Amino acid sequence: MNTTKASFFDAQVQAGWAAEEYGEAERPKLERLLAQSELRPGHWVLEPGCGTGRLSEVLAQTVGPNGHLAAMDISLGMVQACRERVAGLSWVRVEQMAVEEFEAEPASFDRVICHQVFPHFDDQPAALAHMVGLLKPGGVLTVVHFMPSAVINDTHRKAGTVVERDMLPQPEEMRRMVAQAGLSLETLVDDELGYLLKARLKSETPV
Ligand SMILES: C[S@@+](CC[C@H](N)C(=O)[O-])C[C@H]1O[C@@H](n2cnc3c(N)ncnc32)[C@H](O)[C@@H]1O
Repeated sequence: MNTTKASFFDAQVQAGWAAEEYGEAERPKLERLLAQSELRPGHWVLEPGCGTGRLSEVLAQTVGPNGHLAAMDISLGMVQACRERVAGLSWVRVEQMAVEEFEAEPASFDRVICHQVFPHFDDQPAALAHMVGLLKPGGVLTVVHFMPSAVINDTHRKAGTVVERDMLPQPEEMRRMVAQAGLSLETLVDDELGYLLKARLKSETPV
């Protein structure tokens, strides 16, 4: 686990971008994320980089008690905030760890939702390969940001902090990475609602 990055995010738990409740501006972004992820009750979902759990709560309510949400974050502060938010939802587990270190039965998740975390993976192809190994054939992986990639990359570049080299790859590089991981790209949009990539693990039968 990258402890320097974990400490950086520990100090961000109460920052507006991490803690403010979702409002009207986020509604269409959340709707697009849920629709594109084809998230349904009963699904098993992996959510790396859960932060304070704003999305975790929405995902947990959507999959319901017959589903399962495995949320994780390298920052203990973020994990504690997320645990508070989902307290009482017995089908949710929140762990302090890097997703690259998360172990589960291969092919046990219906969905992987990378919300505002992909740029922060130190080795993006390796992280992607690990997450794909946990995805069921026909399952969907989503990489989503509530801002366009140019804004995210520019913000990180100018931050002058441990995240200054954390970038969303250019479309061609992302397409290559996704194909190498064995996924079929179904959607790649980068507009006023933000960035959204949807890819499916090849199979005859979507799940
Ligand atoms: C920009 S924040 C986004 C948090 C949350 N998804 C949100 O949108 O509010 C990125 C989060 O990913 C976490 N993170 C970074 N690298 C990670 C990794 N390899 N595995 C799990 N979490 C990671 C950070 O600690 C941080 O909380």
